[in-house]
Amino acid sequence: MTMSKMILVVFFLALSNVGDAHPNYGKALRKSVLFFQGQRSGRLPSDQKLTWRSDSAVNDGSSAGVDLSGGYYDAGDNVKFNFPMAFTTTMLAWSAMEFAKRMGDQLDNTREAIRWSTDYLIKSATQTKGRIYVGVGDGNADHSCWERPEDMDTPRTVYSISANSPGSDVAAEIAAALASASILFRKVDPVYSVKLLGVAADVMQFAMDHQGKYSDSIGCNYYCSYSGYKDELLWGAAWMFRATNNATYAKFLNSLDANDATDIFSWDNKFAGARVLLARKSLVDNIDSFNSFRTQAEEFICKIHPNSPSSTTKYTTGGLMFKLSHANLQYVTSISFLLFTYAKYMAHAKTSFECGSGVVMTQTTLRSLAKTQVDYILGRNPLKMSYMVGYGEKYPMKIHHRGSSLPSISIHPENINCQGGFQYYESGEVNPNILTGAVVGGPNENDAFADDRKNYAHSEPATYINAPLVGCLAYLVSSPGQ
Ligand SMILES: *[C@@H]1O[C@H](CO)[C@@H](O)[C@H](O)[C@H]1NC(C)=O
Repeated sequence: MTMSKMILVVFFLALSNVGDAHPNYGKALRKSVLFFQGQRSGRLPSDQKLTWRSDSAVNDGSSAGVDLSGGYYDAGDNVKFNFPMAFTTTMLAWSAMEFAKRMGDQLDNTREAIRWSTDYLIKSATQTKGRIYVGVGDGNADHSCWERPEDMDTPRTVYSISANSPGSDVAAEIAAALASASILFRKVDPVYSVKLLGVAADVMQFAMDHQGKYSDSIGCNYYCSYSGYKDELLWGAAWMFRATNNATYAKFLNSLDANDATDIFSWDNKFAGARVLLARKSLVDNIDSFNSFRTQAEEFICKIHPNSPSSTTKYTTGGLMFKLSHANLQYVTSISFLLFTYAKYMAHAKTSFECGSGVVMTQTTLRSLAKTQVDYILGRNPLKMSYMVGYGEKYPMKIHHRGSSLPSISIHPENINCQGGFQYYESGEVNPNILTGAVVGGPNENDAFADDRKNYAHSEPATYINAPLVGCLAYLVSSPGQ
């Protein structure tokens, strides 16, 4: 080898080192989908891969004479809350729908993760005429115990809504979940898809006919719809319209007075998501009557982007979007997903827009911001740690999660009761079971993270943190440089 060739080789080696050029998005995608298996409630199938989990809550619903087994525990506890569960499902379906071609073998796994929820949501909505079940498990009783789901012996109280005690927020979110899933199953399981859409239409009709907040009917049980129910009516109708093209839904959503300005997107507040989804009708389908949603979607992005004069969003020194100190990464993943998705619609329409005086937002501007957020989560941050369990060299080891922190039922079959679990909660030991792919609440506003099980605001994973991240990762797998 000549000297010059050698120099060239060294140069390229150095270049590829500059590198670890980008995180391993494919690996992160696989893990983030696998995570949902760890949150499964009900009877587990023989191909369950997180084998430290076992059957649990198989009799859910029996106190009301119905079968409500299945579905997901929302976070580090053992309660099933349909409101965030349905939002999680909608975001998984939207992720898979927008970036299906980029998902590879994770598309089927994502469909499976969605079906685990939609099977349960269909049961919630169809077993008793005029009634929609909206959750199982008493949050207060559950939270006063530290128990594996497999041992759980707290009251499995069943909550429901009806015409006399309405809940158009939770109903419209269930409709959104079933309608978005119906699109995703259309080609691979048309029978299931038709079923999903039929139930979605009934539940959406209920949401439109009986308007009210479910927390006014049955109490909060941890997931109040603080933003009210108009955002869910807009979101639910938007998804019904996307799935059916039935003008009834377009008429309904245009009749809603749902113009609240927003700089957040979450299981509670869906205005921004609905506006991005509806902006597609303007940008991709060229329907001018949806231009106002496009304007609102762009106003939202201008409240997010750090270069925008109208930005109301804080960023940490390390570059992380910082919305709220409790489970902040949920806002980071859900807003990043909207950025990738809106950029996709902009690419289709070959447009850009401005935030105030001459600050131009292009598809690249949006994607660059979203990529920095995903990269931060995967380890490009001042602590050089990943916030996804099981990904990277350094990640949270003491997450606030009952099943992960207690010994597996497979190696410790003896019951560990409500109070008996607290010795594990209190211990400084790392969790024995790896909840692969779980993304936790994340660092504080100073980019610091304690990895402390008791610090649930930062150390607890949740299904709605992961779901929109699936779409972000799917995008980045095949466009790592954006
Ligand atoms: C459109 O949706 C409405 C409300 O669910 C329904 O009554 C109507 O039959 C639907 N129209 C078509 C053409 O499917």
